[in-house]
Amino acid sequence: MKLLVINGPNINMLGIREPGIYGKETYSSLVSMISDYCESNGIDVEFFQSNHEGAIVDKIQEAYGVFDGIVINPAAYTHTSVAILDALKAVSIPAVEVHISAVNEREDFRQISYAGKACVKTYMGLGFDGYIEAVKFLENYLTQKK
Ligand code: DQA
Repeated sequence: MKLLVINGPNINMLGIREPGIYGKETYSSLVSMISDYCESNGIDVEFFQSNHEGAIVDKIQEAYGVFDGIVINPAAYTHTSVAILDALKAVSIPAVEVHISAVNEREDFRQISYAGKACVKTYMGLGFDGYIEAVKFLENYLTQKK
């Protein structure tokens, strides 16, 4: 099983950005945590982080025929990007949306998720654990699909 974990803008600033909301742990510790879980469970995983919408669209397109599942935190592009939604629909790779914070309890402008409309599941407000839940969900989902 090959999974792609995509993180959008400012996720590379974890540990520095708004620690009261996103915690004190860094992006590299997030990557280590997910890598450790995947290694122990026989899952191939690749990571991609970008602050650029088009680069995320390109990466999703390149995933076609390569990855079995996508875990995606589109960050601020969640609430604005029809292009990321369309890319996820275009490749139709099962995708799970993750948000570190409880976006449903935050500002009005965060209440729409475009990417989420192409995802089979969403985890929010679980901190970094949401990514592990997303990987576990895809493990089950992809095994049942076979
Ligand atoms: C976020 C929530 C988004 O609203 C915000 O723009 C982010 C991070 C989260 O993980 O909680 O950058 O996706």
